[in-house]
Amino acid sequence: MNKAELYQQAMRECEALLEDVNDRLTVMVTLPAVLKQHFDHYYWVGFYLVKNGRLEVGPYQGTVGCLYIDFGRGVCGKAAEQRQTLIVQDVHEFPDHIACDVRSQSEIVVPVFDQDGQLIAVLDVDSDQVAQFDETDQLWLERMVARFFAGGDA
Ligand code: SME
Repeated sequence: MNKAELYQQAMRECEALLEDVNDRLTVMVTLPAVLKQHFDHYYWVGFYLVKNGRLEVGPYQGTVGCLYIDFGRGVCGKAAEQRQTLIVQDVHEFPDHIACDVRSQSEIVVPVFDQDGQLIAVLDVDSDQVAQFDETDQLWLERMVARFFAGGDA
């Protein structure tokens, strides 16, 4: 299967698992687990929550992630500040990249909005290979967070 087909399969699996679930924590625990199982290029996937005026680590799959990130810092903090998805083909070329794990080589960070358009988190995905993320990852990850946090259609 190609990347889009894998995302479609992951979306269907999340839809089935979360059919009657309204608990945000349950959703945030489930999505990284499903995504990590579908994609070999994912090294780390998880959420940083908007809390106490900064980003604080939430549910994730992967090696130990840093606990707190100020808005504007790193890829996550900039994606949160700019309220837009950031794709980094080589993290070593991204000024102020925060290396929670030295094996991180490329990254995509997607802002997560609730149904009122409030920023509630970012979804961070790292790969241990360069240039692993593209518009397909962006399209599907934005679609997934809209579906499960903003009540959008799948
Ligand atoms: N690389 C991210 C920090 C989070 S760890 O990768 C999980 C950043 O630069 O914001």
